[in-house]
Amino acid sequence: MALSRETYNYRDGRVGIAIDSSPEYGSPAIWPSVGEYPIYDPYLYYAMSNDTVRNDAFRAALLPACPGRRVLDIGTGENVHWALEAARQGAQSVVALEAMPRSHAVATKRLAQAPEREKVDLRYGVSFDHDLDPRADVCVAELIGSFASSEGMLAAMADAHARLLNPGAVVVPAACDTLVAPVSLRDLFPAGLAFSSDALPYLRQIFDFNGGPFDLRLTVVNPDPGCVLSSGGVVEQLRFDRAEPLDATTEVELRIERAGRVDGLLCWIRLDAGPGADTTIDSLLDKTNWTPAYLPLFDESLDVCEGDVVTVSFERRTSPDGVHPDYLVDATLTRSLGVVSGSFVSCYRGRSFGTAAVYRELFSS
Ligand SMILES: C[S@@+](CC[C@H](N)C(=O)[O-])C[C@H]1O[C@@H](n2cnc3c(N)ncnc32)[C@H](O)[C@@H]1O
Repeated sequence: MALSRETYNYRDGRVGIAIDSSPEYGSPAIWPSVGEYPIYDPYLYYAMSNDTVRNDAFRAALLPACPGRRVLDIGTGENVHWALEAARQGAQSVVALEAMPRSHAVATKRLAQAPEREKVDLRYGVSFDHDLDPRADVCVAELIGSFASSEGMLAAMADAHARLLNPGAVVVPAACDTLVAPVSLRDLFPAGLAFSSDALPYLRQIFDFNGGPFDLRLTVVNPDPGCVLSSGGVVEQLRFDRAEPLDATTEVELRIERAGRVDGLLCWIRLDAGPGADTTIDSLLDKTNWTPAYLPLFDESLDVCEGDVVTVSFERRTSPDGVHPDYLVDATLTRSLGVVSGSFVSCYRGRSFGTAAVYRELFSS
């Protein structure tokens, strides 16, 4: 790990960003959570289009549902990936929606060269702004992030079920859980906390989108699955064949299974693409483009023993854009040494900066 500092300039000042300037391929790395922002580029689409674990599961769930049906692909991306697969598998017609202008423009060129182009109606804009007549029988929407809900899947599906889909429509993916478990970020990065230099362009784009720096959501690429100190507690259990509540609070109790240190929660997904896909995808255990997120709880890494308990209250609250959630976490660690409380608010957009020690290490103003 080679640590350095980069500067991000914004209207009222500058922020120093700790960077690992020579990240080692396959080692743990810190990235911002990118999927919930309109910053998709060829690299991110490449990672998804070449994610065989994800694609095998989605294909197995989607393709049997397609023949003779009307299919809606929400967020088709620049590769028009699922819309073309559905057309190839005999869908009667496919409507593909894409929110980002650049991605839509590339998708338009790709589609023009595809043999299935006559079957696919590619439209620009967010699903909330489109009507569909007749409604679709099948919906594929890969709007799943580090958390099951973080890319706006719940708002998109609630709207789609109300206006765009027939009753009983097949939705791929069918369901997704978010799990959390105690971890020490500092033990994952003993040489110091720093963003992977590959992540720097995305970090800047998220700050630009937000109108300045803030404590954006962190993810850990390539964490050792053994780094968590308890089994995962389920804080979101979402099904997409119906509208789910946008806002919800869940309480879980996590029993520490071995001695170690804790400064926050690792959060990951378990995704069920649908009938036909024989396994669920676990973003902590499986090599996929989905990376676990990290939510800080305590400013220092606290020693814990087997049998200690972390009680977590996990709240999902829709942010002011009405689509993407913020997450509010309150935790109590009960140890033989005493009880310690910690909390964190992970915002989609915001002004909070340096609210937890990990952010003060990653950024300097
Ligand atoms: C995670 S990518 C998935 C891309 C592609 N479907 C795939 O599976 O490889 C999500 C895509 O959906 C788009 N998007 C997100 N929310 C959307 C919405 N409500 N309506 C239309 N497009 C959306 C994003 O711009 C992005 O291109």
